[in-house]
Amino acid sequence: MGTTAPPTATRWCDVTTTVARIFETMEWGPAPEASGPALEWIKSHGGRFGLFIGGRWVQPRAGESFETINPATRAVLAQVAQGGIEDVDAAVQAARAALPAWSALPGHARARHLYALARAVQKHARLLAVLESLDNGKSIRETRDLDIPLVARHFYHHAGWAQLLESEFPGYGPVGVVGQIIPWNFPLLMLAWKIAPALAAGNTVVLKPAEFTPLTALCFAELANTAGLPPGVLNVVTGDGRPGAALVEHPQVDKIAFTGSTEVGRIIRRKTAGTGKKLTLELGGKSPFIVFEDADQDSVVEGVVDAIWFNQGQVCCAGSRLLVQEGIAERLVQKLRARMEKLRVGPSLDKAIDMGAIVAPVQLERIRGLVDKGVAEGATMWQPSWACPTDGYFYPPTLFTGVSPAATIAQVEIFGPVLVSMTFRTPAEAVALANNTPYGLAASVWTENINLALDVAPKIKAGVVWINSTNLFDAASGFGGYRESGFGREGGREGMWAYLKLQNDEVRMQNEEAPAASTGETGILHSAFSIPHSSLPPIDRTPKLFIGGKQVRPDQGYSRPVMGPGGRLVGEVGEGNRKDLRDAVEAAHAAAEWGRGGGAGHMRAQILYYIAENLSARAPEFAARILAMTGGDERQAGREVDATIARLFTYAAWADKYDGAVHQVPIRGVTLAMNEPIGVIGIAAPERRPLLGLISLVAPALATGNTVVALPSSAHPLSATDFYSVLETSDLPSGVVNIVTGDKEALAKLLAEHLDVDALWFCGSAAGGKAVEDASGGNMKQTWLPGARDWDDARQAEGREFLRHATQVKNIWIPYGE
Ligand code: NAI
Repeated sequence: MGTTAPPTATRWCDVTTTVARIFETMEWGPAPEASGPALEWIKSHGGRFGLFIGGRWVQPRAGESFETINPATRAVLAQVAQGGIEDVDAAVQAARAALPAWSALPGHARARHLYALARAVQKHARLLAVLESLDNGKSIRETRDLDIPLVARHFYHHAGWAQLLESEFPGYGPVGVVGQIIPWNFPLLMLAWKIAPALAAGNTVVLKPAEFTPLTALCFAELANTAGLPPGVLNVVTGDGRPGAALVEHPQVDKIAFTGSTEVGRIIRRKTAGTGKKLTLELGGKSPFIVFEDADQDSVVEGVVDAIWFNQGQVCCAGSRLLVQEGIAERLVQKLRARMEKLRVGPSLDKAIDMGAIVAPVQLERIRGLVDKGVAEGATMWQPSWACPTDGYFYPPTLFTGVSPAATIAQVEIFGPVLVSMTFRTPAEAVALANNTPYGLAASVWTENINLALDVAPKIKAGVVWINSTNLFDAASGFGGYRESGFGREGGREGMWAYLKLQNDEVRMQNEEAPAASTGETGILHSAFSIPHSSLPPIDRTPKLFIGGKQVRPDQGYSRPVMGPGGRLVGEVGEGNRKDLRDAVEAAHAAAEWGRGGGAGHMRAQILYYIAENLSARAPEFAARILAMTGGDERQAGREVDATIARLFTYAAWADKYDGAVHQVPIRGVTLAMNEPIGVIGIAAPERRPLLGLISLVAPALATGNTVVALPSSAHPLSATDFYSVLETSDLPSGVVNIVTGDKEALAKLLAEHLDVDALWFCGSAAGGKAVEDASGGNMKQTWLPGARDWDDARQAEGREFLRHATQVKNIWIPYGE
């Protein structure tokens, strides 16, 4: 300081001019965060990283490595190991070896470990924030103020679930060894979302970070080791998609959790089909940001900045489609452009920037390509007047107007700082536009009218809806998608289910053709029923299909014989085909009102009671039919009808009681976790217990507001066809239940391929289950194989497990206060 010469008069003049200019323009100077600690940590490893397996660093078997770079400067940060199949196997073996001791720990002991991880993150918050910012190119403001605090919050929250596991999830335990594959947009946060619930539930983990951003996962593994996490509980295998694929295909991995592109999600769905691996997928999105004309426009502008320019728009739930009510569109676009002109793009460690670098050249090219396409397809593109820095992979905030809803940029996930805007006139039009995408991850709704917001939120097909806010996340609130955005939730109680399974529940996929065994007990209510007999020849009656509330002939007019015990012909049923299924799905969609509106639970309860009542009135006839089809003894057939009536009562009871929750999230507001119906559920019923098995699956689906296309037992379908007339006399709206008889497994595969079926529950052979899971990837429908259960045992065959599969949680964030 002292050695510097005093400024000359001209210099003073320059300085004052500069100061005056700054006052005029209000420009910020650079405010860089020091990179020292992160670079030193890299240096302490000699600039090279192995894989983290069994609590230590190991070299990859093939000796391959790759560079990880800072996308804001293109500087190489480190050499990272490229894992291969053998490395993945070693990591899985380490996780398997660690599993018995880790899962046997009392919840409290695991809670202590998770608490230690939360503290380790907090103690090294600065190192992690800087490292993340360097490796990903995202701004230090975001890593420091959002990513890393949320990582710590996740471990705290899940320390709580570990502590409460035995009391809050009785009978449930870990799934086993979990393979987790994460993307590059929130590297450490995605790690936390994945491993915190997995470890809390007693699973052990093999994690595959994204190739562009491996450093914070490696740093975390080291911190976890130092914090005393037992070796093998968390293993990290770095590399590109190959170790990810090896993890998916490893036979000793019990569950896969994946976040990333829908394309890879589909591959994983197919690879895991028929393996019995549990699966959760968090995929892409094209989330609507809906602005009604009474919204506070200045707040909206700041909301948009957070929605699409946060993390350079590389956010799966980015509000990338701006839907504006016509009357304010022009004014809002003007305001947005003015705001965009002031955004700053620059090096990620500069605390004064709004947007950092795009993660990699390939992503930059993808963004450029899609923007060019938008222009070519005729939309108007606007970017601020300033230029991005040229020493890294930067892309400016971009706004498209005049976009047609069918344009590529309105449909495809761009995953960059590109906002696509459209207009609407009425709330109904806003909802239609919002849902005009195969995705369903998130949505924002902006209006000062809370009635309107709460009317619109349930109508949007998305796992998260933010009212007058956007991109809010918390460990207590589940996050995840509808439709092609994937299935499963991360965070909150709802997220824990992904990492738990019923203990002692060996649900096997098996061929269910075996005849039902008689227990020899006496039925309670109808033990003394009499089977009507007649000496006259029966009137020929071939039951039809039941579609849209009507009994209809199968498309091709064919029927199939139904054999009783000893190969005796007991009847015929219609042979359904693809066209019949299409009609049934259409009818089920048209009946969607079944799941909507206040008081609907009460209405559904009454109808389920009414169905039970009408079945009860015809119990002897139904028992006789079961006996004729399956043989066995009369009392067993009577018990099956009694149990079916009881099951209908159970779900009539549940219809207005399967409540959601109000989550405690750290905002001034509430988050409503609503259990919503999934939509149209295809149900392939079990072969055993032709009436009880069918109703055990159909009733929970109905109670929670879904509509159904049911495929009865192939061998014993007559209980289902008899049931038409019970439904017809019970006030059930047309199309809520549709029943298609025929070759159940072939029909189930067709339903799994149908893009308008939202979920498929399948009971049947292992090959049939595989075929259904494989085909479900088309629209990422949820599948559930309930396995070979004892349908007579209410503990296995009814209750919350069924209701959970019949619903998906939507979290609606509602901030309040002036
Ligand atoms: P990606 O889906 O290929 O990568 C995600 C993760 O999956 C990475 O760890 C990757 O190594 C791994 N992976 C790749 N192929 C695999 C395979 N066959 N089996 C198992 N794991 C595999 O996503 P990518 O290529 O990084 O980005 C492409 C596009 O995907 C983006 O432009 C964006 O549209 C979307 N994306 C969506 C994300 C989200 O959070 N929803 C996150 C990242 C990307």
